[in-house]
Amino acid sequence: MQKHLVNYTTEAFRSAFQSEPDFFFLAPGRINIIGEHVDYSDGFVLPAAIDKYICFAVKKIDDSETCTFFAKDFNESFSFNVNQKQIPVKQMWANYLLGVFNAVQESGKKIGGVQIAFSSTIPMGSGLSSSAALECGFAFILNQIFGLNLSKKELALIGQKSEHTFAGVKCGIMDQFASVFGKEQQVIMLDCNTLDHQYFEANLDGYSLVLFDSCVKHTHLTSGYNDRRNDVDHGKKALWKRFPEVEKFRDFNFSMLEEVRTEIGETSFKRCIYLLKEIGRVEKAAKALSEGNIEYLGELLNETHHGLSTEFEVSCEELDFMVEETLKENGVLGARIMGGGFGGCSINLIKDENIIEAIENISIKYKEKFGIDMKVYRVKISDGIREYKRNEFIV
Ligand code: GLA
Repeated sequence: MQKHLVNYTTEAFRSAFQSEPDFFFLAPGRINIIGEHVDYSDGFVLPAAIDKYICFAVKKIDDSETCTFFAKDFNESFSFNVNQKQIPVKQMWANYLLGVFNAVQESGKKIGGVQIAFSSTIPMGSGLSSSAALECGFAFILNQIFGLNLSKKELALIGQKSEHTFAGVKCGIMDQFASVFGKEQQVIMLDCNTLDHQYFEANLDGYSLVLFDSCVKHTHLTSGYNDRRNDVDHGKKALWKRFPEVEKFRDFNFSMLEEVRTEIGETSFKRCIYLLKEIGRVEKAAKALSEGNIEYLGELLNETHHGLSTEFEVSCEELDFMVEETLKENGVLGARIMGGGFGGCSINLIKDENIIEAIENISIKYKEKFGIDMKVYRVKISDGIREYKRNEFIV
């Protein structure tokens, strides 16, 4: 699959630039087992990189001041001068890249000319973090070919900064971290407060994580993501005013939250209660995963869906239906909406022998109800961003 993507991107490079690329890079999307919306609230998350990628074909152009991109999937090009200050533009995909350049420039590092063609197997707007792969992939490339000496953590933070400043989405760090730090067959337990992390063997003992794409597309610039963050910030402000001695959001408890309930109002209260519960669930899920208690992991996923749907209110009719119906299938231990919400994929924990039947039944029901053909992704947990060497394939 990667070979096909690399060949396809190589062809795109040839047709855009009439020359051969010198380097290839693969930047993966991610899943998240549990820990939704807690990455900007001092929580823990359990993401992993997957075998869906943006492939970049790259050529460094000495004595040039121009950075040129060809986005094969949009059939669009974009260039900018690396010695000038950049501002956001109309082409959304270009903003993720300009934001990275801007963050690199602000850190005092210099880059030269480069030509890049890229193409993706990560579906856009499906909650699999194609934007984080684009940002971090570009940061990784610049670091590698211009010897910028940035650490992996810095690359992830540059990706996040790009999203904040040029894409306008106040995201947490989970997606960028997973794309950079992913490891084959390993789930990352990330403390989003300190960025400390550990890897867990993803041994699901006869069960698999299968993604059902509702094909309800979203972009977090308009989805309500930033509104949720504002609701949460409103609650946090009151909590810290009342309890200044508490260091991290995750150290507040339910009775403290109850004390500020009237002051913050019901919406903020609901958002914050979801967050405190979700932070607790991630710790339980990590324990369940490490002890092979897959059934309990499934229960926690279901609780998360309930919270995302009723307390954090980032689900939608299509995903609620999909999850509810999936849970009626044989061999399904857990199902929930995944990622920022407002559409995208559900992540489902299903016994291997029941997967085909569940897919068939849910596809039919979903089509009947909404007239939409859902998509199914059976992803493998994979390595983070890496250079793809020429000798790994034959063009
Ligand atoms: C999006 C954001 C992440 C995270 C998730 C929800 O993917 O980019 O930072 O907040 O939503 O968990």
